[in-house]
Amino acid sequence: MTIVGASPTTERVAVLDFGAQYSQLIARCVRECSVYCELRPGDISPERLRQEGFSAVILSGGPASVYGEGAPQAHPDLWAAGLPILGICYGQQLLAAALGGRVERAPQAEYGRSEMEVIAAEGVLADFPQTTSVWMSHGDLVLAPPPGFSVLATTTGTPVAAMGNQTLGIYGVQFHPEVAHTPLGQQVLRNFLFAVCHLRGGWTMDDYADRAVAGVREQCGGGSAIAALSGGVDSAVATAVVHRALGGRLTAIFVDHGLQRLGEAEEVVSAFAAAFPDLRLIHVRAQERFLAALRGVVDPERKRRIIGEEFIRVFEEEAGRLGPVDFLVQGTIYPDVIESGGGVSAKAATIKTHHNVGGLPERMRLHLVEPLRQLFKDEVRALGAELGLPPALLWRQPFPGPGLAIRILGEVTAERLDLLRRADAIVREELTPHGLGREIWQAFAVLPGARTVGVMGDERTYGELVAVRAVASRDAMTADWARLPHEVLARMSARIVNEVPGVNRVAYDITSKPPATIEWE
Ligand code: XMP
Repeated sequence: MTIVGASPTTERVAVLDFGAQYSQLIARCVRECSVYCELRPGDISPERLRQEGFSAVILSGGPASVYGEGAPQAHPDLWAAGLPILGICYGQQLLAAALGGRVERAPQAEYGRSEMEVIAAEGVLADFPQTTSVWMSHGDLVLAPPPGFSVLATTTGTPVAAMGNQTLGIYGVQFHPEVAHTPLGQQVLRNFLFAVCHLRGGWTMDDYADRAVAGVREQCGGGSAIAALSGGVDSAVATAVVHRALGGRLTAIFVDHGLQRLGEAEEVVSAFAAAFPDLRLIHVRAQERFLAALRGVVDPERKRRIIGEEFIRVFEEEAGRLGPVDFLVQGTIYPDVIESGGGVSAKAATIKTHHNVGGLPERMRLHLVEPLRQLFKDEVRALGAELGLPPALLWRQPFPGPGLAIRILGEVTAERLDLLRRADAIVREELTPHGLGREIWQAFAVLPGARTVGVMGDERTYGELVAVRAVASRDAMTADWARLPHEVLARMSARIVNEVPGVNRVAYDITSKPPATIEWE
C-alpha cells in the first residue's frame, strides 16, 4: 500500500488491533504526541512491520480471554523481534502469557475508576506520583509477571497494574491510558514513545500537507483527475490536496441537485473560487432534472436511489465532455478505512458508501486517489486549514448526500424546498450567537408534511408544521437530542412562524438515536 503523506523517514508506530473499542483512540493519542501511528492486524509479523517502517508497537485491548478458544494471538515471532512493545489491557495479558507470566480470570471484573499505587516510577510510569487514578475495564488479570519483569504499579483489585522489562523495552499496563478518565494516560504514551522507544516526534500537519501532495504526484504521474465536490468537508479537503498536486490536470465537478440548504451551493462554489482561483470547477445546475426525477415520489429509499442514480448520470455526462481521465478523487478518511476492514484485516478496503460517488469508480474505470485515507476528521480539518480552505467550509455540519429531500416527508417540490430552506436557515442562525454551533452535531428543520390548525391575527389558519431537530453526537452512530436553552427554542419558533409564510406551528424533536435516527427519513 502506498502511504500517501508519510515519507520514508517518518517515525511510525503500529497499534496492533485485538478488537478493542478503543484502538482508534490509541492511534489518535499517539498522533497527538506528534508521532505517526496506524492500526494493523493483531497477528501481523514483525518482518512485515519492519518492512512497513514501524519501529514500535502497542498491543490494544480486546474483549477476549487470552486462554479462550479462538482468542486473537500476536505473531509468535513478535516477542523476540527486538521491537519495543507496550501492551494495554488484553495486550498486557497477551504478552504476560506469552513470556511466562500468569494470567487468570479475575475474581471480580473491574470496571471504572481505580486508585493505582505506583511501586516504581520508571519506564512507562516515569515521573508518576505515588498514587493516581486510572480507568480499568477487564475480566482477566495478570497475577504474576513473566520472569525478568518487575511490577511497576498495583491497585486493590489488580496485583499487576503495570509491569516492565527495561532491557527488552517491553511494558504492559492493565488500565487504559488512552481514555480521558486516566488523567496521566497521555504521559504513559509519551514515556513509551520518547523514553522507551527513543523516538523524536515532530510529525505535524504542516509537513503532512507537503508529503500528501508529493504522494499524490507520485501516484498520478502525468495523469489527469476529476473530483466530485459535495459541499462536505472530506471531499473539499481531498480536492484541495489533489489540486495542489496536479494543478490544471484536476477538474472538480459540483453537481448541484438543488437539494442543498439556503445559499449553500453558492457558498461552496465561491469558497473554492476564492481559495483556489485557478481550479477548474464545473458547477452543474441540475435542479430541474432532480426535481423531475423525484416528482410524485414519497418512499424514502426510492428518493435516495433516484438521487444517487441521477447524480451518477449527471457526473458521467460532465466527465465525458472532458476527454480521457485517469483518476477519481475520493474523500475516504481513516475511520472509513478501519470500518471497512481496510487498514487492519487482510480484506480489501471497500470504497466509502456514499450515495454520491458509490458506483462511479467501477462504471468509469477510474483509479482512486484517496489523499485522506490516513487521517482522522479533525486532522482533515487541520489539513484543510493548512491548504487555505475557509473555516466556514471546514466546520460545516454533516449533511446527507440526498440533502433536503430526506427532510421533506412526502413529495419534494420546489415550493416545499423553499419553505424548508427558510425555516432551516433560521434554526442554524439562532444557534450561532449562542456559540452552540460546534457543540451540536447537527441542527436542522424538517417538514413532516402535517397541516395543523392555528390562529394568526383573528384568522383561522391551516398551515404546515415544522419540526426542529438538534442532536449531540460523537460519530452519528448514537445521538442524544440536544438540551437547547428554552429561550433559543422560543426564538426559533417565533421567527419561523413569523418569517416563513405557510407555517403556523413548530415542534421540537425530543427523541434520541436509538430508537429514532438523526434524519427523519
Ligand atoms: P441517521 O439518520 O441514520 O444518520 O441517524 C446518521 C448520519 O448520516 C447522515 N446520513 C446520510 N449521509 N447519505 C449521506 O451521505 C445518506 O443517504 C444519509 N442518510 C443519513 C445523517 O445526516 C447523519 O449525520
